Amino acid sequence: MKMWSGRFRQTLDAQFERWQRSFEFDRRLLSYELAASAAHARALKNAGVLSADELISILEGLQQIGEMAAASKGLVEDDDAEDVHHFVEKQLVARIGEVGYKLHSGRSRNEQIATDLRLYVRAAIDELRSELADVCGAFTDRGEQAGNAAMPAYTHLQHAEPVLVAHWLLAYVEMFLRDADRLADCRKRLNVCPLGSGAVAGATLAIDRAFMAHELDFDGPTANSIDATSDRDFVLEFVNTLSLLGLHLSRWAEEMIIFSSQEFGFVQLPEAYSTGSSAMPQKKNPDLLELVRGKAGRVMGSAVALLVALKGLPLAYNKDLQETQEPLFDATDTVLGLLPLVAGWMKAVQFDHERMNEASQSGFMNAWAAATYLVNRGVPSRIAHEQIGKAVKLCLEKQCELQDLALEELRALNSAFDEGFYECVKPAAVLAIHDVVGGTAPARVRQGIAAARHKIESLREEVKIHAHA
Ligand code: ARG
Repeated sequence: MKMWSGRFRQTLDAQFERWQRSFEFDRRLLSYELAASAAHARALKNAGVLSADELISILEGLQQIGEMAAASKGLVEDDDAEDVHHFVEKQLVARIGEVGYKLHSGRSRNEQIATDLRLYVRAAIDELRSELADVCGAFTDRGEQAGNAAMPAYTHLQHAEPVLVAHWLLAYVEMFLRDADRLADCRKRLNVCPLGSGAVAGATLAIDRAFMAHELDFDGPTANSIDATSDRDFVLEFVNTLSLLGLHLSRWAEEMIIFSSQEFGFVQLPEAYSTGSSAMPQKKNPDLLELVRGKAGRVMGSAVALLVALKGLPLAYNKDLQETQEPLFDATDTVLGLLPLVAGWMKAVQFDHERMNEASQSGFMNAWAAATYLVNRGVPSRIAHEQIGKAVKLCLEKQCELQDLALEELRALNSAFDEGFYECVKPAAVLAIHDVVGGTAPARVRQGIAAARHKIESLREEVKIHAHA
């Protein structure tokens, strides 16, 4: 039986009927639908709507449906179900008879889908945060293994200053940790329970909403039934956070693609994550990186689809809201699919430290350190900048680096130069002067690694606490 056919004089157009269904994609919400239904059934019993026996048979029926779904790996089939809510009702009645129809007392699918989606996003957040901890762990491990190895840092993609390889990798760890934080923040806000909101105005039976919220590990019931049945902010927040994570990953992927090109040669692509060309026998292509970059665009597309679907919708529930499900699922699947691969890639990749180091020592990477040398000898910074600029100009003419200039040549620019200059522009000295919190001096980077490890550990702890809640 349909959930709403009583007032209809005509049957639905068959093509329309199929087309408006959501079961094909919302069946993946089945486990949440069953949990929410069990909470609702218990509340109905407490409200005196169900007898103890009726409750028992409904709970048993729901459990059987769950077992059947587990046996079919969640891919339940039904050629007639309109959506996951209809599916459960049909299954329940088939198993326990007409009493199954009592489950829907005082509730609406509008509050159900709002609840199922919150439960889905909450679980996805926990899984994603756990994967992010692994990704951050892999980046930090590689940073630690790199020790004091140096590489060029770029601004405008031009040589800027040398940094530790570890410092560069930790930059990504910061981005991913912020993403994990944003997910936690989204989780906090979404963790309220719409059950009992009814279709729009609130349940028509005296159901204990706080009880249902508690049953499902929500922090409490939602505050307003109109908002609760039409709010998808949490979906938007979540998918936007995934977009930003995708953006970070795509910056990483792009950098790795550039660094793996023959021109840079900093990164040896791991064969296990690359493919060849059917035409050019020599090729090894950065497929994983390219797909990560491409899939980031796909996730952003989902975020935009959600914004556009929700924009201008009058309150409260509108069937347009059904269109928010697929972008949500696709964005979640996409990001969950790629995070373990990113961690695997990072573990397998080889850095050519020699080449990176060499690159970090040419192209006047020590010019700012040279100017700082003058500043430390009392020369005003602007003047020191200008004079080192002149020294660079001289080097460009002579095709050499700053440390190759003779002391007389330097002293012709400023009499403050002495032999100590040559020590100050050596690679280790250049790294060492960036001795501030968050700077690339080796001791600071070691602190950075320890701090990152600490944050990753806290992230793992938080995920564990949620998993056991
Ligand atoms: N499949 C629907 C959705 O995803 C469930 C809610 C249906 N509510 C309604 N009033 N037709 O939005």
